[in-house]
Amino acid sequence: MTVLVTGGAGFIGGNFVLDWLAQSDELVINLDKLTYAGNLDTLKSLSEDARHVFVKGDIGDKRVVSDLLAQYQPRAVINFAAESHVDRSIASPAEFIQTNVLGTFNLLESVRGYWQELPEAEKSAFRFLHVSTDEVYGTLSLTDAPFAETNAYEPNSPYSASKAASDHLVRAWHHTYGLPVITTNCSNNYGPYHFPEKLIPLVILNALAGKPLPIYGDGQQIRDWLYVKDHCAAIRCVLAAGRLGQTYNVGGWNEKANLEVVQTICQILDELKPKASGRYAEQITFVQDRAGHDRRYAIDARKLEQELGWKPAETFETGIRKTVQWYLEHRDWVENVTTGAYRQWLTQQYGV
Ligand code: NAD
Ligand code: TYD
Repeated sequence: MTVLVTGGAGFIGGNFVLDWLAQSDELVINLDKLTYAGNLDTLKSLSEDARHVFVKGDIGDKRVVSDLLAQYQPRAVINFAAESHVDRSIASPAEFIQTNVLGTFNLLESVRGYWQELPEAEKSAFRFLHVSTDEVYGTLSLTDAPFAETNAYEPNSPYSASKAASDHLVRAWHHTYGLPVITTNCSNNYGPYHFPEKLIPLVILNALAGKPLPIYGDGQQIRDWLYVKDHCAAIRCVLAAGRLGQTYNVGGWNEKANLEVVQTICQILDELKPKASGRYAEQITFVQDRAGHDRRYAIDARKLEQELGWKPAETFETGIRKTVQWYLEHRDWVENVTTGAYRQWLTQQYGV
């Protein structure tokens, strides 16, 4: 048996591939374009492992995808491939439309062509699992109930709009063509192998480098944080037992304001890697807010918990400690991702 994972050299996809092969011998075909966010270093431990086949390519390339499907005959496709950073989507949205919308469309069409020709038993067992975000639901006030699967889509950023568009395509390919799809909408992830343009790894690395810790606006925006390995477990669970055509919200019941997240990281670093003088929180700097910044995200994960019995293993307190520890212990991985292209982004975004 074989699964095709797209975007498996990125943050969540990379963790997913590592976790999958830690508990299964099923072959993983990993299709990734290796954009700035793709990093084969994350998968270094699999370089000699015959259960992992890496293919550099674009989900928007129908020939590449169709050839892979014909050659490896996967029983499932798990689609992580996307442009994923909100700030980049504000600075240059075109790539988001290209990959998240057109790429997903091309992937769906290639998969539909393959799936339609499968023998009946394989056809009904096949799954297309689309990995999406809670940001498609828009923003909440402090008193709103968390996002449920029944909430209307109200995306606010180019990123969330492009993901919402892809979710709609996936839904339509089920409704119209019968493609056996399931979509997961997850809250903010954090953990090992997270590219340091996102808040948590950026703050850990800037703190260690003695640089400012940039907080957008008043720092009171709320995100619902989930440890990445809990997200990977939820995806395995949905793939195994989720109902066709359904969407499942994935979240850790861990709502935190950004300022609190950054202060927590500083406290853990004060303990694990104290500065020669002073405290890390002294590096906190308030900077200009993100355009159209969503105020609050929160996930109601009861459907996934009640239907499929999934529960996160980590609280924010245990997960963030593991994460800080991981970055302290993997300086070589960090050195390799902080390339010239990364430094160029920091200059463009923060003027440093
Ligand atoms: P990421 O940016 O770290 O990784 C994306 C990966 O996709 C990279 O390896 C990149 O090279 C690859 N990729 C990009 N364009 C491609 C293309 N056209 N063809 C093939 N590969 C391509 O993103 P992530 O944080 O790992 O997110 C993975 C998925 O999960 C995304 O779909 C994202 O929307 C979703 N998601 C992310 C979060 C989060 O907090 N990071 C939360 C919920 C959902
Ligand atoms: P991010 O990690 O980019 O995830 P998302 O925008 O998908 O939620 O940002 C998380 C939160 O942290 C978000 O409210 C924006 C904020 N943020 C900062 O305050 N400073 C920063 O330098 C970054 C990157 C994010």
